[in-house]
Amino acid sequence: MDWEQRYLDDDIPWDHGEAAPAIVEVVSRQIVPEGARVLVPGCGLGHDVRAWSDAGFAATGLDIASTALERARCRYGTDGMSWLQADLFDPELPRRGLYDVVWEHTCYCTLPLELRSAYVDAVARLLKPGGLFCALFFTDTGNGPGEGPPYSADRDEVFELFSPMFDLAWEKRPDQAYTSRVGREWLMVWTRRMHDNI
Ligand SMILES: C[S@@+](CC[C@H](N)C(=O)[O-])C[C@H]1O[C@@H](n2cnc3c(N)ncnc32)[C@H](O)[C@@H]1O
Repeated sequence: MDWEQRYLDDDIPWDHGEAAPAIVEVVSRQIVPEGARVLVPGCGLGHDVRAWSDAGFAATGLDIASTALERARCRYGTDGMSWLQADLFDPELPRRGLYDVVWEHTCYCTLPLELRSAYVDAVARLLKPGGLFCALFFTDTGNGPGEGPPYSADRDEVFELFSPMFDLAWEKRPDQAYTSRVGREWLMVWTRRMHDNI
């Protein structure tokens, strides 16, 4: 997928023009420590980054597409937010800082299936020990098994992939969703285990 071209062509059907409603639910549980640094990988036009910032956290939007980040920066500015153009899988990325929280929303489902375990490693590398992986998985994209992007996430597969380095704190169907995604997502919060290094 040429992400940059999709943004240049404004061919971005995944963009809802507003943050994922489930962020409100995660924040309301008061599990994210005050002052936490939150990373939003594959942030696109930055709506979720703005929502985390509005909730009082230091939010960083990361994306591989420079046009997406330019548009995000232009719309939302840099007050309480930062924008980072990088490849999530760049092993040097953690040198630029670690995070207390990684927020997943429609990054995992866009990746080729063979990159899923690399995604787990990337998230583990970018989180501080004890950090939270808060994730809204798109479990029913409407595409059949192995078809995508977006590729549907399977709850049990996610559990298998993350369990070696993360402890599941809680999971549920989100209370709120974009109208078109009601009943098609699954919310999970994981804690990065202290002692595992990768
Ligand atoms: C389907 S879009 C979702 C964007 C945003 N989360 C949303 O819901 O509107 C996936 C995003 O992931 C970004 N992306 C894909 N591969 C990436 C990578 N390896 N590193 C960083 N960002 C990536 C794309 O540029 C794109 O903005």
